[in-house]
Amino acid sequence: MPQDSASRGQWKSRIGFILAASGSAIGLGNIVFFSANAYQFGGGAFYFPYLIGLFAIGIPVMALEFGLGAFSGRAFPETMFRIAGKKGEWAGWWAILNAGFITMWYITILGWVIGMLVGSFGALWEPSVAVPAFGMESGALGNPHAFFFRMLSSWWPVIFVVVIWILNVIICRRGAETIEQATRVFVPLMWAFMLILIVRGLTLPNGFQGVLLLFSPDFSVMADPSVWKGAFSQIFFTLSLGFGVMTAYASYLPKNSDHTNNAYVTSLLNCGFEYIAGLAVFSLLFVFAVVPQASTLSMMFFILPQGIAQLPGGAGAVAGFGALFFILLIIAGLTSSVSLVEALTSSIRDKFGVSRKKVLAYTGVVGALGSIIFALPMVVNPSLSDDGTMGLTLTDIMSHWNFDYGLLLVGLVECVLVGWVMGADKIRVVLNANSKMKLGPWFDFLIKWAIPAVLIFLIGWDITNEIRNGVYGMPFNANYADKYSLMKLAPALSIVVWLGGSAVAAAIFTRKGSYK
Ligand code: PHE
Repeated sequence: MPQDSASRGQWKSRIGFILAASGSAIGLGNIVFFSANAYQFGGGAFYFPYLIGLFAIGIPVMALEFGLGAFSGRAFPETMFRIAGKKGEWAGWWAILNAGFITMWYITILGWVIGMLVGSFGALWEPSVAVPAFGMESGALGNPHAFFFRMLSSWWPVIFVVVIWILNVIICRRGAETIEQATRVFVPLMWAFMLILIVRGLTLPNGFQGVLLLFSPDFSVMADPSVWKGAFSQIFFTLSLGFGVMTAYASYLPKNSDHTNNAYVTSLLNCGFEYIAGLAVFSLLFVFAVVPQASTLSMMFFILPQGIAQLPGGAGAVAGFGALFFILLIIAGLTSSVSLVEALTSSIRDKFGVSRKKVLAYTGVVGALGSIIFALPMVVNPSLSDDGTMGLTLTDIMSHWNFDYGLLLVGLVECVLVGWVMGADKIRVVLNANSKMKLGPWFDFLIKWAIPAVLIFLIGWDITNEIRNGVYGMPFNANYADKYSLMKLAPALSIVVWLGGSAVAAAIFTRKGSYK
């Protein structure tokens, strides 16, 4: 039994919607992934492709996703069904179920943040910690590095991910109504926490030098397609695009809302937050000469905490700023993960009319089991030279597929279906109907030609690299015969499970039942 608009729920006010949508956009991506990417791709030079990505892809696709929600008043799969029939519906479910995997992965990372938060009250800052599980000498790793791996190789994260899933279910329990209540508290709070961190970072002796690092461009890197791929994937991820999340949120708005304006406001709030988060992160890193060379996760879990550990003001200040940083990550991450859970919940309810309670119960249990897989503590790499535990290895592989392909691929499918099957001009009419700022035919050109062409080029470039260097940088002739051989197959297996699994599940969801 499909839902009518009244029983689907609505935002109480435009502010409520903007808080929820920007809460979805602002998350781990803004605080950690952006700075790590920016650093990896040459500091200041990253901004140029990033800004082009924001204006040429991010804002138009955000407007498109809002427009889709306004056009149908439904979640993503039903919207796609109305555009392109069963094939469109299948693509819609595929995006939503793909997002399901991302949700499990994202929530595991948030679970680890709880562990770090607990540590920030003491253990995290101790001068050295033995890592008995790895047979390492006491103090072989500096804290918080050692603390992080010790936590990861315990079963604690399994409890933490369950806690985060429970919080998600609680926040989504009455849909838009309870999400709005939560974001009204969390979103202002995270801006406040971020401002405190920036003031602390910039007022440190030499804090400003770090900011210069972020602005000293190395333009030579811009000839490298991987910088553009990094910037565009970051834009998709940070704006929560390509997973039907923004369409679900916009479907809870009155039809006559100004969606173009909403797209600008949401995108600029998100990127403004990202920008100032970069200031905070880079000032801290510079002052304490800790360099984010390693992966994005290590940046969040031990490089930044290493900087915090050196803050002046004694143990109290260190613990205080440490806790503040981890609480900030948790609330920013929660307002993002609930949008993923809600996008899935509303999609299932739109089609099958099942009660919200039931959908949330199933999603919560299946999701928590998935997140637990990403949190498995078995040690697969005792040297800890890169990934260490089974969970971390899988998490890292997931990040690779997600950032290198998943985000760009779903964006491509979305632009092609809307641009070519529905007609970009139709969605432009929907958007322009209630907008002060009218979109011109350039919008159609972007959605039909420019964005797909760029995405196809970047995905193709990536695939070529993968073939040349081996899947996930693992040469095809690697020695698979040692003790950890199964883990070496994990990169290739995981992409089959992830893309194949969600494609099959999408087909099942599409075949079962029908829309009115
Ligand atoms: N935008 C969120 C972040 O920056 C992540 C996210 C992606 C949330 C996709 C929802 C959908 O952390």
